[in-house]
Parts: sequence; structure tokens; C-alpha cells
Amino acid sequence: MERIKIVDINAPELLGQTVSVMGWVRTRRGNKNVQFIALNDGSTINNLQVVVDLAKFDDEQLKPITTGASLHVTGTLVASQGKGQSVEVQADTIHVFGTADPDEFPMQKKGHTLEFLREKAHLRMRTNTFGAVFRIRHHLAFAIHKFFNDRGFFYLHTPLITASDAEGAGDMFQVTTLDPEDLPRTDDGHVDYSRDFFGKHTSLTVSGQLEGELGATALGAIYTFGPTFRAENSNTPRHLAEFWMIEPEVAFFDIHDNMDLAEDFIKYCVRYALEHCHDDIEFLNKMYDNTLIERLQGVLQQPFVRLAYTEGIEILKTSGRKFEFPVEWGVDLQSEHERYLVEEHFGRPVILTDYPRDIKAFYMKQNEDGKTVRAMDVLFPQIGEIIGGSEREENYDKLMSEIERRHIPMKDMWWYLDTRKFGTVPHSGFGLGFERLVLFVTGMSNIRDVIPFPRTPGNAEF
Ligand code: 4AD
Ligand code: MG
Repeated sequence: MERIKIVDINAPELLGQTVSVMGWVRTRRGNKNVQFIALNDGSTINNLQVVVDLAKFDDEQLKPITTGASLHVTGTLVASQGKGQSVEVQADTIHVFGTADPDEFPMQKKGHTLEFLREKAHLRMRTNTFGAVFRIRHHLAFAIHKFFNDRGFFYLHTPLITASDAEGAGDMFQVTTLDPEDLPRTDDGHVDYSRDFFGKHTSLTVSGQLEGELGATALGAIYTFGPTFRAENSNTPRHLAEFWMIEPEVAFFDIHDNMDLAEDFIKYCVRYALEHCHDDIEFLNKMYDNTLIERLQGVLQQPFVRLAYTEGIEILKTSGRKFEFPVEWGVDLQSEHERYLVEEHFGRPVILTDYPRDIKAFYMKQNEDGKTVRAMDVLFPQIGEIIGGSEREENYDKLMSEIERRHIPMKDMWWYLDTRKFGTVPHSGFGLGFERLVLFVTGMSNIRDVIPFPRTPGNAEF
């Protein structure tokens, strides 16, 4: 008999039929005559109720059926008399694949804290909360590919190992096969990276953008979607050392096209999740944050505010609010500033543009004023920065002089500069932090709870 997933069990034609289901026991309760097993197979937040008539099974058979045990059940699907589900299975046979000793199984009890579950990341996906989060994460990933594919963007795979620091922030993880106990040295005493695996100093990438620009200036419109790595030592609820980023890059796009794309893109993802993850979002709304659905719908209803950095600074300075980090033109905004603008001043997402050039990356298009660049950060309620992007400097000479001004080693950049030498075009792009999107859509408050196996300073256990 073919196995049926619990997500598909509500089909009318199955009523009265014998069905075969498999899953893990969430709870078992009952009395001397009848027992009820809540079975979950991960396909949905909803459990299937298995009704066990004790006239057909003896105690010995039921003993190993404890929370966490894995079962194969066959039986008749009937309309449920009880509350909370529309159908249930009256068990004919129960096979236990694997037991879960109640004295040892850490997910035995309900109501563990998220902190406790983080210590048990290898098993936390068996809980309702993390089941919901990771199903939503999947649907968002799928929505992202669909969004770009439907608009003619090509998915470009950019390298994870790189010799250049795309963001110029310097917080990279080194990749080497050299023996740290016995490093080869040049005559002047430096480590001789010409004897390393790639013949040069290499790291894990912080962004696929630079290679993405090569793709965009050939294929027209591309996006990347892959892991990125940052060795910044920030232990915050919004930073990971390994996170996933989506980076579209489009030839002939200026910053306004880029903002339109970013806004359409995020709204599409949020709408997709509301339509395809209804049960899971409802669950999270009920359990953690009963303003979640309202907040998600709120983002869809209004256009994002578009505002220059300089005006944003004015609003913050005249807000009368005392911030932990004082505001002055030229400072990088902290999440407290971003959230003030979004949550309190405007009450909707804000796209902040035209930042001071010295707090942004070298590749951004320079404005006429000589002080600002055509950057655009999308700021979200609860999250702060969710997207960072810009129009790119496409003028060879201007880009060169900026690279020199910042003392960026030229020899690592020649291939990037070729895009400006041969058929250069105006172009733009941005990066969406995937986990920050998942944070927003699930309403979770810590980024460690929306990636299956978080990598943060001091933490790479599972
Ligand atoms: O603003 P960032 O650093 O921009 C770039 O990397 C550009 N190359 C993107 C581009 O224009 N193609 O990062 C983009 C986004 C941020 O807005 C944030 O959502 C996320 O990536 N992000 C992080 N997410 C989790 N943990 C971290 N440590 C993150 N750093 C950035
Ligand atoms: Mg940024």
C-alpha cells in the first residue's frame, strides 16, 4: 500500500479507505479502552490522530510508543468525532521503526525555550515551531527562484572561494591548505602564499556581487543565491558568520529601477508566504507574536518610503529621541536608528538612498556632489536593514580613482575593471539577506532560529 503524507490526508476520496502513514509520535494519551496518538510526519504542522482500540492491541505492543518514536500505521480513515481535526485513522497495524527512550529523548516535554532548543539544534526540527520555520524557509527559497525565473533572470553560480574582498570590509575567513605549524616563508619573512593551494591568499566569499556583475554585463540580468561568510565578531540577533544571500544584478538599470525591483521582490516573497504557508504562519502568529500576520499584510498594502540619507539624518536629529549611538551626518546608521525611521516615524518600510561615500563600498556610483553615492538600503520593521544595494560606478576612470583612494590592491581587481573597459553599461543590483527575510516572515526574533545549523562566533557544533 502506498504511503500517504499527512498534508494530503484530508482528501474526501480517502474517507472509509485503508491508508498507510508514517511519522513520529508527538503525544500519546487515552484510557484503558482507547489510546490516541498524535502523529507528525513533517509535511505539515498538523498532526494526524491515530485511534488505537485496546481490544485489538495489547499493552506490550503499545509500550514503545512514546514521544519521539517513529511509526508505520495502517488503518481506516474516518471522519473525526473529536475536536481539532477533521479526520483520524483507526489503527489496524502499528509497526515501530525506532523507539525514543523517554528518559533520554530531549524533546520529550512540550514548551522548551528557544534557547534550550538551540543547544539541541540536531533535534529541534522535530518541534512544531522549527517545523513551521523551516517549511516557510523552503517556500521562500522556492518563491525567490520563481520570481526571478518568471522575469527572465538567470541563476548564476558564483564562487565561494575567492581572492578578492568584495565589500572591502576585511572580515573574511581564510581558506588554506598550508600547515599553520610550518608555514613557508619568503626571504623577507612573510608567509609565502604562492605555495598555498591556489598559489595566492584566498578566503570564503563575503558576496557574489563582483562575479555577478560579470554575469549581468553579459547575460543582462542575473541573480545569485548562495552562502556567504563574514568573520565579523558580532554576536547580535541579526548576524550570522554563514548566511545565505540573494544578489540580483541588472544591466541598464539605474537606482530607481533597482528600488522598484527590490520592492516588488520583497512584496512578492511576503505574499507568496502568506498564500503558501498559511497553517505555519497562523501557528507562529498564535504562539509567538499575534501581530505577525498584520505586519506581513501591512508591508503589502503601502508603497515603501524612499528617502535620502541626508533627510533621514535630519529626521533622526530632530526626533527628540535619545539614541545609544548619537546621530551626525556621516555616521553609519545603527539598527536603533533604522527601526526608529521605519517603526515610529513612517510606520512602513523605508528605502534609504544616497549615503556618504565613506561608509559604503568602493563600487557604488558616485553622485555629482562628490560626497554621496547611489546606495540604497531597504529598512524593515523589526529587522532594520534587510537589503543593501546600489547603482554601480560604470565609469572606468572614476572607479579607478576610488580604488586608488582606498588603497585597494589593484592586482586582485583587474578582471573586475575589465567590465568597465569593454562595453561598460550603467547597471545596478542589491543583496537580500535570506535569513533576515525569513526572520521577518516568521516573526522569530533571533536569526539563529531561522537557519537549520547556525554559525556564529564560538558555535559550529552541529
Ligand atoms: O549590505 P551588504 O553587506 O551588501 C552586499 O554584500 C552587497 N555586495 C550586495 C549587493 O549589492 N549585491 O549585505 C547585503 C545583505 C544585508 O542587507 C543583510 O540583509 C545581509 O545581507 N547580511 C547579513 N545577514 C546575516 N548575517 C550577516 N552577518 C549579514 N551581513 C549582511
Ligand atoms: Mg549593508
